Amino acid sequence: MIYSRIAGTGGYLPEKVLSNNNLEQMVDTSDQWILERTGISRRHIMEDHETTSTMAEAAARQALDAAGLTTKDIDMIIVGTATPDRTFPSTACILQHRLEAYGCPAFDVGAACAGFIYGLSIADQFIRNGVAKRALVVGAESLSRIVDWTDRSTCVLFGDGAGAVILEASGQPGICSTHIHANGFYNDLLYAANHIGELKEPAYIKMQGNGVFKIAVKTLDDIVDETLAYNNIDKSEIDWLIPHQANLRIITATAKKLDLPMERVILTVQDHGNTSSASIPLALNHGVRTGKIKRGETLLLEAFGAGLTWGSALVKY
Ligand code: UT7
Repeated sequence: MIYSRIAGTGGYLPEKVLSNNNLEQMVDTSDQWILERTGISRRHIMEDHETTSTMAEAAARQALDAAGLTTKDIDMIIVGTATPDRTFPSTACILQHRLEAYGCPAFDVGAACAGFIYGLSIADQFIRNGVAKRALVVGAESLSRIVDWTDRSTCVLFGDGAGAVILEASGQPGICSTHIHANGFYNDLLYAANHIGELKEPAYIKMQGNGVFKIAVKTLDDIVDETLAYNNIDKSEIDWLIPHQANLRIITATAKKLDLPMERVILTVQDHGNTSSASIPLALNHGVRTGKIKRGETLLLEAFGAGLTWGSALVKY
């Protein structure tokens, strides 16, 4: 039996930090409102010379180092992103060029905030069936470029960054299971237009926040049940929850569902804001590098985002 295991993690956050106090100077908001409603205090904002692929490269190189591998060892590159460098080619191909890891398949996954979980799930299938041995899975986002900085209902929420993992074939799990879903009925609740769509509007993030919030809490509740049942384990066996970092209130609801104290939840939302597909690999990397997450522990990763898309992974780290 072949499984995939996480051999290394990496992350990149731009140096520039935008605090809630900075935002108070830009739109009609307050530090108190943002903190109470979202849990966010600050977020990282990329420089003009940075792109999704430059951030992805930094995260990927760190993950490769952590795994003790070089770019030549990768045989698959998947990038989850809603903010690609270009419409085409894929950001994964541009990343492949940056890494000089030519020849292996490289493609993007468009599943918004669930993009990393989707990518992890795809890479896991390729490794399990023996087609790939070492996959680079990245979540990377330049959300500050598609935020309307005059819209207080969205501009306080998002940040930039990239996270990466190296998945490697192994005789032991590893990734125990992944679960991915979508419901396009709700595609209008959260979207960014583009210049080729039928929508004659600027390419900014638009969100019916409260509608998304309610569906997110219920859906994440369900995916926790699905993941535990599939693996036939009790919630008490989860060591760490590594949630998509959109809103502290949503994360708290999922932790409560699992009866997990917040000390067993990897939280980065306060410092990163919502970095969409980058948020879970960044949180995972944070948990690993701060020494919280240890080898052999059981992790539950879960995400929810535009599409609507959602997914989870149960991982023996
Ligand atoms: O990552 C992908 C998935 N995304 C999510 O999971 C995000 C889900 N949604 C959320 O996290 C929350 O809905 C938000 C944080 C976006 C908003 O929180 P909320 O508790 O749902 O607030 P709301 O949208 O219902 O707005 C409440 C009030 C409104 O004022 P009125 O109509 O009650 O007078 C807004 O105009 O808060 C107002 N408001 C603000 N006030 C100060 C909205 N944004 C702001 C702001 N500062 N930045």
